[in-house]
This record gives sequence, C-alpha cells and structure tokens, in this order.
Amino acid sequence: MTNPTLLVIEDDTVLNRLLVGELKQSGFAAHGSYNWTDGRSAIDRLAPELVLLDVHLPDANGLDILAEIGDSRLVVMLTANASLHQAVEAMRMGAADYLAKPVNLDELELIIRRALENRRLSAEHECRRSEEAMRMAGMVGVGPAMTELRLLIEAVAQTDVTVLVQGESGAGKELVAQAVHHASPRRERAFVALDCCSLQDTLFESELFGYEKGAFTGADRRKPGLIEAAAGGTLFLDEIGDIGPAIQAKLLRVLETGRFRRIGATSDMRANVRIVAATNRDLATLVRKGTFRADLYYRLNAFMLVVPPLRLRREDIPVLANYFLAARAGGRRQRLHPEAVRYLTEYGWPGNVRELRNVIERASILSGDTPVITPAHLLGLSGEMASAAVDRGNGFQFDDEPALEKIEHEYLAYLLDKYRGNRREVAKKLGVSERTCYRMAERYGLG
Ligand SMILES: Nc1ncnc2c1ncn2[C@@H]1O[C@H](COP(=O)(O)OP(=O)(O)OP(=O)(O)O)[C@@H](O)[C@H]1O
Ligand SMILES: [Mg+2]
Repeated sequence: MTNPTLLVIEDDTVLNRLLVGELKQSGFAAHGSYNWTDGRSAIDRLAPELVLLDVHLPDANGLDILAEIGDSRLVVMLTANASLHQAVEAMRMGAADYLAKPVNLDELELIIRRALENRRLSAEHECRRSEEAMRMAGMVGVGPAMTELRLLIEAVAQTDVTVLVQGESGAGKELVAQAVHHASPRRERAFVALDCCSLQDTLFESELFGYEKGAFTGADRRKPGLIEAAAGGTLFLDEIGDIGPAIQAKLLRVLETGRFRRIGATSDMRANVRIVAATNRDLATLVRKGTFRADLYYRLNAFMLVVPPLRLRREDIPVLANYFLAARAGGRRQRLHPEAVRYLTEYGWPGNVRELRNVIERASILSGDTPVITPAHLLGLSGEMASAAVDRGNGFQFDDEPALEKIEHEYLAYLLDKYRGNRREVAKKLGVSERTCYRMAERYGLG
C-alpha cells in the first residue's frame, strides 16, 4: 500500500513546515499550502486522504471551506485555543477531528492515524451498506457491467431523480428498480409496481390516481391510487413504452408539477414518490415514430440505467447459474459440471437472466438426486435449441463455427416453421416468454 497523502493548509509558514516535516518522518506523503486558493487546487491535484486545515486563513474561513469541500470527514481542523468554539462547530459539521495549537507532535500522529482509520471504516461501512442493498434486491453479478451498474444505482438512489431503466426482456430491469429503492432513503417505505401494458387507459388512470366516491358508475367508495399507496416510497412503472397518448399526457403532468388529482376530485394532491420507469423498447425510436411524447421521454429519462443483455456480460453467467442452483436446491448440494458451465456460457440467452433461471431450475428438477448437473440435463431442458447448437441435429447445417446469433436465428426460423408460426408453442420450446419470442422474431425479421 502506498503511504496516505496528507495536505496541510496553514498560513503560519513555520508551523506548516514543521507539520509537513514531521508527517513525512512518520511515513506520510505530506504537502503544504499556505492559503485556500493554493489549498483548493492542491486538493484537486493530490486527492489527499486527509487535510489539516487551519481555522483562520488569509483568504477564507475554515468553516466556509469545510462547506465547500463537501466531504467534511476529510478534514482535521487546526485551531488555536481562542477559536475552540469554531473547532466545535467544525466537528458538528462532520470534521474528522481537531488539533489544538500549539500542536503536540505526539498527539498529531495519533489524531491523524485515528482519523484515517475512521475514514476507512466509514468507507467500508458505506460499501457494505450498498452491497447489502443490492443483496436485498438479490442482484447478482461480478463483471464490470454489473459493477458499474451498481455504482450508478448507488449514486442515483441518494436523489429523488426520475430513473429510466432500459434493457431487454428478462435482463433484470425490475430487479434494478428494486435495488434503486433499497439503496435509497425511501427504502423503509413502499415499492409499488404497476405494469403499464396490462391496463387500458381508463383503468390505468383509476389505478394510478385513485378516485372519489361517485366519480363514475361503480365508484361506490373513494379509493386511493397507487401514487398514494407509494407515498414516501418508489413507484415503478413497468413497460412504460406501452402507454397511450392520454396517459402519457397525465403522467407528464405528474412529473412536471409533482401533483395529481383523483378522478372526480376537485383539487390536486402532492405526489411524494420517486418514479422509476422501465422499458424494453427503445423510447427514442418511439419518439421519432411519434408514438411517445418527446417531453415525457425527456422527463422520464432524467437518469438512464441500461441493463446489458446477458450475452454481453457472460462473466456473470456461472455466478448467476450457481446462485439459482443454490436457491433452487434448498438443502441439497448440487453443482454444475464444468462442461455444463461451458455450455451455459456459450449460449445466446435471448430470454436473458429469466431464461437462465428457468433452465437451471428445470435442470435441477430433471437431475433428481444426482449431485452434478451435466450438459445432458441442460440439453434435455432447453430442448431442441441446445441439441441444435451442440450436435446440429434437426437437419441444421452450419458452415464451420457460426455465431450464436446465427444459431438462434436459424433455430427460431426452424421452430416457427415446424409449429406453423404458433408463438406460444415456439416460446415454450425455447423456454422464453411469448413476448420474448415475438421480439426475437421481430429482431430476426421473422415476425
Ligand atoms: N442480476 C441478477 N441477479 C439475480 N437474479 C436476477 C438478476 N437479473 C435478473 N434476475 C432474475 O431474472 C428474472 C427476470 O428479471 P426481471 O423481472 O427483473 O427482468 P425484466 O428486465 O424486468 O424482464 P421483463 O422485460 O420481461 O419484464 C427475475 O426472476 C429476476 O429475479
Ligand atoms: Mg419486468
């Protein structure tokens, strides 16, 4: 480990040199600045682990600086006895510690080491808290894509910004939405999900906004909507790309004004929800086609989280497979044969994580009491798809070594043909949802 970098910002030249010299002797990479202008640029340049900051500088006041630095845990205040009250104030603002002048050099090192240790612990704590949040949402993944996604989730979770989650079917959009909720200060309150594609416009409106008694025939009592049910928490709008123009307008109003009105009510209510929307369609394209309002798109897209398809993060496949296996196996301890792992890792996963989970669960059932899951179990499971890919049965003729996309394409065409375009049957064979089957067909121009 490299030595921690420390910065001393102190206008008393003698004291500054003394401190820097002493800290260097104690094994720190220490630097000195004599005013805040230089100190500020040194902080940017050196990114010190800790700053020793004089309460009185010629060009700024220590407490203002503390506010400007933002992360006050970075700072140990240097204070003369006369300004002890300012040190107290600094501690209240979250400063790591303070050091009284004249400085006792033994105390100096002790305080620095303690502050560094506290910083390390609190960073670890933060990290654990965030990991905890992800675990609570059950989000598995070890590769760079998931690591970055986690960081973005952590960051956006601290705000109330509207989030748009984009990704293919089964990639884990809902899980990401839950992770945002769990990592946010709203975590103790409700996470309410609404699947937008399953509802007609009128139903959607009454679900979302609620209604007053007598608002329409059948409204025999007042019913609060989901926005109210999610108060203080998170409202998850799934398949947002599917909502019609009337609802788009109503939703836009909520996002713009932060207010909504129950059906039949005479006044507005404040919407205290963080909205997370998800879609597996490309909203930008829908905007271009004119089926999705541009202004709503920009409102929703305040912060976009993209969940990459499984085939673009293959390093996560073995981890996910083992995770689903352990969850499924209960007390039994089953494991995957290396060949099975290889097969899973090479497959194209059009149904993404959901498909992987299905395959593993079925393999676990099919393998019965055998402790090791082999490719044979997987072959039986993901059915003809697997055998087509592996032994190229069913009359498939592939020249040399085709990309998985090609196998997928040809196999889909084959099944569509065999089952005379019956998507339900084909989806079943593929082990994916009907929706996914439609999308695949669309993607390969077989729709
Ligand atoms: N990173 C992950 N770790 C663990 N499980 C995951 C992960 N990603 C997805 N899953 C699981 O895969 C399944 C599909 O995930 P999810 O419902 O979040 O996908 P989706 O993108 O919302 O799909 P759809 O577009 O079909 O609604 C769920 O059972 C979910 O728990
Ligand atoms: Mg979903």
